[in-house]
Amino acid sequence: MELKGKRALVTGASKGLGAAVARRLAEAGADVAVHYRGDRAGAEETARAVVAAGRQALLIPADLARPKEAEELVARVADAWGGLDLLVNNAGVAPVRPWDQVTPAEWAEVLAANLSGPFYVMRAALPLLRAGREPAVVNVGSVVSFNGGAFGPAYAAAKAGLVGLTRSAAREWGPLGIRVNCVAPGPIESPLARALPAPVLEAMKAQTPLRRLGTFAEAAEVICWLLSPAAAFVTGQTVVVDGGRVMS
Ligand SMILES: NC(=O)c1ccc[n+]([C@@H]2O[C@H](COP(=O)([O-])OP(=O)(O)OC[C@H]3O[C@@H](n4cnc5c(N)ncnc54)[C@H](OP(=O)(O)O)[C@@H]3O)[C@@H](O)[C@H]2O)c1
Repeated sequence: MELKGKRALVTGASKGLGAAVARRLAEAGADVAVHYRGDRAGAEETARAVVAAGRQALLIPADLARPKEAEELVARVADAWGGLDLLVNNAGVAPVRPWDQVTPAEWAEVLAANLSGPFYVMRAALPLLRAGREPAVVNVGSVVSFNGGAFGPAYAAAKAGLVGLTRSAAREWGPLGIRVNCVAPGPIESPLARALPAPVLEAMKAQTPLRRLGTFAEAAEVICWLLSPAAAFVTGQTVVVDGGRVMS
C-alpha cells in the first residue's frame, strides 16, 4: 500500500482501532494527525509509533461531541500542514444500554460522538480535502447498523446514520474527486467487545463463519486500503469486516 507524502487525520487515535489505523498509515508513508479526547498518554504512544515509522505526527485533543471543537481540530491540521488528503472518522463510544435504560442525555451523547462528530469534522474538512491529493474519507461504522447489535438503540441508530452520511457525502463529493466509504467491523478483540456479556460474545463467535473475533490490524488494513489509490473507483460503499457473520 503506497500513501507516501499523504496527510492524514485519524480521530480517536489514542487507542484501539484508531491507533492501529494511524500506525498502518504511517507505515504506508503518510503523516498522521493523531486526534484524541482525554487519553493523552495513549495518543503520545501512537504519535511515537508514527515518528518511529519516519513520518510526522500532530497531537490534537478535541471533544467531537462539541461542533466547535470538531471545527477547531480541522483548523489546527490546516494551520500545521496547510492541507489534508485522508480523513478517518473513527472516534466513537458504545455503552451497552437496553432500550428501557437509555436516558435522553446518553441518547444525545452517543449520537453526538458517533454521528454528529463525523458530520462536523467532514464539513470542516471539505475545503481541505477538495484541494487534497487523491482525497479520501473512511467512516468507521459497525455491523450493528445491519443487525441491530447488542449495544442498544442509540449506538445502532448512530452507526446506521453513518452509512447514510457516507452515501450522502460520496454522492455530493464524488464530482469533486473525493471518495467517501464506510468500514463496518464486527466485534474486535477489544475492551469494547469485552464489555458485552460473555454468553453474547460466545454466541457471536458461534454465528461467525470464521469462528473468532477480528483484530484491530485486520480492520485497519481494510480502512487503509479504501484510503489508498488501490480503491480509486470505490466510493459510497460500506465494507463489512466481521468474519462473514453479516452477508448481503
Ligand atoms: N471494538 C470493536 O469491537 C468495534 C466493533 C465495531 C465498530 N467499532 C468502532 O470502531 C471505532 C473504534 O473502536 P475502539 O474499540 O477502538 O474504541 P475505543 O478503544 O473505546 O477508542 C475510542 C476512541 O474514540 C475517542 N472518543 C470517544 N468519544 C469521543 C468524543 N466524544 N470526542 C472525541 N473522541 C472521542 C476516544 O478518545 P480518548 O480515549 O482519548 O478519550 C478513543 O480514542 C468506534 O467508532 C467503534 O464504534 C469497534
